[in-house]
Amino acid sequence: MLRDGTVFDDEHLPREIVGRNSQMNEVTDALAPIEDGVRAENCFLFGPSGAGKTTVARAAVRELRREVLDVPTAYVNCWKDYTRSGVLERTAKNLVGAAIPKNAPARDVIDTLQTELDSPSVLIIDEVDQLQDPDTLYDLHSIRGLAWICIANREVDLLARLDDRTHSRVSVGYRVQFDRYTADTVTEILDRRASHGLEQGAVQRETLRRIAELVDGDARRAITALRVAARKADHEGLSTIPERLVEDSVLSAEAEVRQKTISKLNHHQRVLYECIERWGPLIQKELYDRYESEHPDPITLRALRKSHLPKLEHYNLITTERGADGKTYELAESSGTPVGTD
Ligand SMILES: Nc1ncnc2c1ncn2[C@@H]1O[C@H](COP(=O)(O)OP(=O)(O)OP(=O)(O)O)[C@@H](O)[C@H]1O
Ligand SMILES: [Mg+2]
Repeated sequence: MLRDGTVFDDEHLPREIVGRNSQMNEVTDALAPIEDGVRAENCFLFGPSGAGKTTVARAAVRELRREVLDVPTAYVNCWKDYTRSGVLERTAKNLVGAAIPKNAPARDVIDTLQTELDSPSVLIIDEVDQLQDPDTLYDLHSIRGLAWICIANREVDLLARLDDRTHSRVSVGYRVQFDRYTADTVTEILDRRASHGLEQGAVQRETLRRIAELVDGDARRAITALRVAARKADHEGLSTIPERLVEDSVLSAEAEVRQKTISKLNHHQRVLYECIERWGPLIQKELYDRYESEHPDPITLRALRKSHLPKLEHYNLITTERGADGKTYELAESSGTPVGTD
């Protein structure tokens, strides 16, 4: 049944980007000046999980590289590289191939980038709201010819953390908003994946539609569910995915996506998650008290509220509710229930 399992990988960059023409156009417009040898415009991509932000950023850069073969481009994910030196080192390594000595001062890395980069370049800064020191953007802004595509869930999570000096410099740029996909678009995305990844006739369009209706506009969940369903059908010796496997597959896919997300959490986020898992629902003060006693090096509630708690919410790990006692935090239930069709 599975013809090419790699097309279901999260890192797989599809040949066609479905239903994101206006976002693709905005990002490619921002990058267009590079075709004339000029620095591109910065852009910011915002939107919920699984809405295609990383995919559109990578596809726009792929398109640019078709026009300008040797444009230096790089990708950094701030969930993994969240310190100032981590981001700067990864950028120097990927953009100019510089070998950076361990623990090199940030100033030296910036100098290397400034001297070695002699043409316009593009940096994708994914999960930028996870940057420990958002002023790192100020450093990157000072590099000649460098334009970025910054990706975050919500604009406030990013810009509210910048100091005035950084804010006024770095907040200029295109804003590109991504909404949840409609069930129609998710169906179309699944259809293309199926035709590349599954044997012909392995799945009916109605079955894809059914998956699409259950994933709340999240393409990642949908694609994972299709792979799970194909495996289950294979296991039963079937050559077509029956609709009865869909609900279970969506639930398994949610659990799989959740496990992967949990494995990426940083220590603060993990402790918060575990406190909510063990003792939730918790009001903010209770949560903070628990966190403080569990974490060896706790940060302030304000800092947690600015970046770590929203991240848990964004990835559908927790839900919050505002009541008379302020916010209450609770583990998100797996949905797997139908949403309105469009
Ligand atoms: N328009 C699209 N066409 C084809 N595939 C898509 C599209 N949008 C998303 N996908 C696929 O869905 C998955 C999730 O997309 P992506 O990683 O771009 O989401 P995201 O918005 O960056 O989410 P997150 O905020 O969780 O990082 C990927 O496997 C991607 O290939
Ligand atoms: Mg992403």
